[in-house]
Amino acid sequence: MAVHRIAAIPGDGIGEEVIAAGLEVLGALCAREPELRLEVASFDWGSAHYRRHGRMMPADGLDRLRGFDAIYFGAVGAPDIPDDVTLWGLRLAICQGFDQYANVRPARLLPGVTSPLRGVEPGDLDWIVVRENTEGEYAGAGGRVHRGLPEEVGTELAIFTRAGCERIMRFAFELARSRPSRRLTLVTKSNAQRHGMVLWDETFAGLARAFPDVATDKELVDAMTTRMVLKPKSLDVIVATNLHADILSDLASALSGSLGLGPTANLAPERRFPSMFEPIHGSAFDITGKGIANPIASFWSAVLMLEHLGENAAAARLMEAIERTLAAGDLLTPDLGGSATTAAVTKRVCDLLRGANL
Ligand code: NAI
Ligand code: MG
Repeated sequence: MAVHRIAAIPGDGIGEEVIAAGLEVLGALCAREPELRLEVASFDWGSAHYRRHGRMMPADGLDRLRGFDAIYFGAVGAPDIPDDVTLWGLRLAICQGFDQYANVRPARLLPGVTSPLRGVEPGDLDWIVVRENTEGEYAGAGGRVHRGLPEEVGTELAIFTRAGCERIMRFAFELARSRPSRRLTLVTKSNAQRHGMVLWDETFAGLARAFPDVATDKELVDAMTTRMVLKPKSLDVIVATNLHADILSDLASALSGSLGLGPTANLAPERRFPSMFEPIHGSAFDITGKGIANPIASFWSAVLMLEHLGENAAAARLMEAIERTLAAGDLLTPDLGGSATTAAVTKRVCDLLRGANL
């Protein structure tokens, strides 16, 4: 019986709350499925660690994570520490250090959830945003000169490589091919940005010839926002750059009901390194400590983690418990229009997992 070793990094704010809830649910799932064995080690890295040691994680942090089968991550961000310090110090350090180039973000309108879009029913909104996760606008290239002077300059250099484009697009084509409607939409801004974005377009056109069974189209990123709102049914799998897909996937999550629902897999597809699973949302200062964070994004991220570990039956069972909890409608957190607490939603999912008929 395989034991999967999971590194849990709750991080900051509601990250701590939703990862604790997620681990509780995974515990209930393991009790229900004797074949499923998870060994969890927790790491207290994040802003509190930064205040104590001046770093978000220890210098050998990546080495300590390397031997795990997966990482289950909450969020980073604290009001008293600059966001670029917290993000680059932990989350981006792991994504880039472990070459987790495929950031996969499903957004699906689940039964029992109301979309802010008028007249949209479950089945009308079922997307997967595939985000390039290691280069592009978040490559970290650029700099500041003449600091503090009136003539100060800040540059932010986006890096696009053919190899980087090809591998993320190939991943997106394979994913689209595995879905019933086999459609893939490329998002760029190649009218205004005529170098890297055109490389994206050309690479996509070249690869499309190798996937004749996938229907493709392309959209400029500004037009894409309107298409997501006005024609949600016309989309299936979407591939875009690090920045564009970051923005579009927050929109996707909100259109599917709440930012508190959207999960993420940061995949190192060749499995040379552990992959990382986390909710899309951040540390949410405004609701931290109130016990009302929606834990569903964290649970759904655990589903993606179980799928990655090859535990498809357990993943399906957890997804069904999530869907039943939402569909029942009596235990929704405030972001979904209800008044339930994180703990109450977590207990419901655990009870369903323990119940006989799931
Ligand atoms: P955020 O995602 O933390 O919150 C945006 C809004 O959505 C807030 O009103 C929040 O209350 C709500 N929200 C988010 N998750 C929710 C949940 N599970 N249940 C109910 N409501 C939820 O984004 P924001 O406010 O822009 O950033 C806060 C901090 O988080 C910043 O420091 C930012 O850098 C960091 N951040 C970290 C991310 C990560 O670690 N992956 C991702 C995004 C932001
Ligand atoms: Mg984001």
